[in-house]
Amino acid sequence: MSHPRTITIAPSILAADFADFGAECRAVEAQGADWIHVDVMDGHFVPNITFGPATCAAIRPHIRTVMDVHLMIAPVDPYIAAFAEAGADIITAHIEAGPHIHRTLQAIRATGKKAGLALNPGTGLDGIAPLLDLTDLICVMTVNPGFGGQSFIDLSAKVRTLRAMIGDRPVHIQIDGGITPDTAPAMARAGADVLVAGSAVFKGGTARSPEAYGRNIRAIRTAAEAAIGHAA
Ligand code: DX5
Ligand code: ZN
Repeated sequence: MSHPRTITIAPSILAADFADFGAECRAVEAQGADWIHVDVMDGHFVPNITFGPATCAAIRPHIRTVMDVHLMIAPVDPYIAAFAEAGADIITAHIEAGPHIHRTLQAIRATGKKAGLALNPGTGLDGIAPLLDLTDLICVMTVNPGFGGQSFIDLSAKVRTLRAMIGDRPVHIQIDGGITPDTAPAMARAGADVLVAGSAVFKGGTARSPEAYGRNIRAIRTAAEAAIGHAA
């Protein structure tokens, strides 16, 4: 079955050199990244800490495409303005991060940014219907958030159901966690259009020697597009 959806590849800088984010963003974009996925972790909502708005602001001038900020933090609302000012294009919050996700999505949109809604692997789709018109992107986590390099959890049925729920709305389905050329096809077939990949993009290269990034991105894109009937 083919459909016209194009595949967006969003490398996660969680797998990049933390001492050299600027160069890493420039390198991976030059090698074909469509967006840059930025994982913010607070050591409270998830069992790991990365960085906050100051780092996002510092790397923003090195990103020419889309800065896709995935907030794995709780609470979210007190920090939305800071991430918006840091230059995020998309701000994604977890449904599990608090009791007022509707308010959070409204607050993100009120900054003029795109609003994303992330779902942990253990979270079902019940309760998201009222949020679909407030959301530009739904991030289906295919690992439990907190770390890169974990094994992929196949949630094809969830993605398929979500795509049907979204219908004609202009809402991206993003998959985050364990994406490789082997796992991407089933997700694309199920209806995903944005694939985040950390370890599978950054392995084998460096900002100074980034050709592997390009090969890795092409391998994921080709596998996903072939699965939905695009010419490779
Ligand atoms: C996990 C992060 C992911 C992660 C993906 O908490 O949200 O974005 O970096 O990394 P890989 O592709 O290595 O699973
Ligand atoms: Zn992420």
